Amino acid sequence: MELNARIYVAGHRGLAGSALARRLASGGFLNLLTRTHAELELTDQAAVRKFFEREKPAYVFIAAAKVGGILANNSYPAEFIQSNLAVQTNVMHEAWRNGVRRLLFLGSSCIYPRDCPQPIKEEYLLTGPLEFTNRAYAVAKIAGVEMCSSYNRQYGTSYLAAMPTNLYGPNDNYDLEGAHVLPALIRKMHEAKAGGLDRVVIWGTGSPRREFLYSDDMADACVMMMSLPDDAFGEILRGPNGLPLINVGCGEDQTIADLARAVASVVGFRGALEFDTSKPDGTPRKLLDVSRLRKLGWSPRIDLETGIAAAYKGFLAREGGFSGHRGALSGAKT
Ligand SMILES: NC(=O)c1ccc[n+]([C@@H]2O[C@H](COP(=O)([O-])OP(=O)(O)OC[C@H]3O[C@@H](n4cnc5c(N)ncnc54)[C@H](OP(=O)(O)O)[C@@H]3O)[C@@H](O)[C@H]2O)c1
Repeated sequence: MELNARIYVAGHRGLAGSALARRLASGGFLNLLTRTHAELELTDQAAVRKFFEREKPAYVFIAAAKVGGILANNSYPAEFIQSNLAVQTNVMHEAWRNGVRRLLFLGSSCIYPRDCPQPIKEEYLLTGPLEFTNRAYAVAKIAGVEMCSSYNRQYGTSYLAAMPTNLYGPNDNYDLEGAHVLPALIRKMHEAKAGGLDRVVIWGTGSPRREFLYSDDMADACVMMMSLPDDAFGEILRGPNGLPLINVGCGEDQTIADLARAVASVVGFRGALEFDTSKPDGTPRKLLDVSRLRKLGWSPRIDLETGIAAAYKGFLAREGGFSGHRGALSGAKT
């Protein structure tokens, strides 16, 4: 990517998109194109067409998506599949019509079968049943991977599908009904400390293992890949089973219990952590195999403790503290 190239970041105010926008700006990319959801409805095909024809971006990052936790995914599957299919279809199709040079589509590790061997390699895609609660979302994202592959094959585009592990960082969602596990823990511990509570209840046994990547590290990996010379970029596009698919993670995981202890330590909550073992654990382990990313010479810079401290600072600055919601992590996705 040339520093003066026109680069469109779809979803630039979200967790992933804002990290991409920060990384591009700090890397000296001066020609960023952004539109808020209110300014450009990406499910509106005519509006997306008009935007691409007027702005002619050379590079595109798709970080716009309808995203949520278990509760939202399970309650509104029609909205999750319709909205995500529409957003990615409109953007990828107009990117092709308008000669975009490279596009990076963000998916998520939930595209892989629920009971995959660990760590999860890219080639495990479509080898087994998906987790039911977010199947609609996962199928939309799998369709996005297949669209990248199909447009590359038929039209000669350079579309890459990057699958990050669990992300956290600035502009995360701290609403307990929609939050992922780490921001939900930050909020719950903060509220418990502020309210002088002596315990926090966490869903499940605490034993499932999960991997977390700070959003700025994810953005750094994505910008690195989009900036590779043609031969190296082409190599990633010819991924396992011919799919232009690459995992983005740190390659390390820990138990939810260890994660909760780390959050408690950063937030300064000194009460008890109570595990509600009557609630489901979800899949026992979810760790991405990141050897293909590592081979490109990339590794994350922000360790979990530093990342949680930065995220908590952002939470405090943004919220000034929430109130209410004293229950268990009912909506949290792990
Ligand atoms: N969060 C994670 O842990 C995680 C992990 C792995 C992968 N990812 C992937 O990263 C991508 C972004 O996720 P995120 O966590 O950054 O989500 P997010 O914080 O909710 O950000 C999504 C952004 O997209 C915008 N958007 C959604 N629908 C839109 C539409 N129809 N038209 C225009 N803009 C729209 C949203 O705007 P509004 O808020 O105004 O609707 C928001 O700014 C997703 O593909 C997700 O699968 C996320």
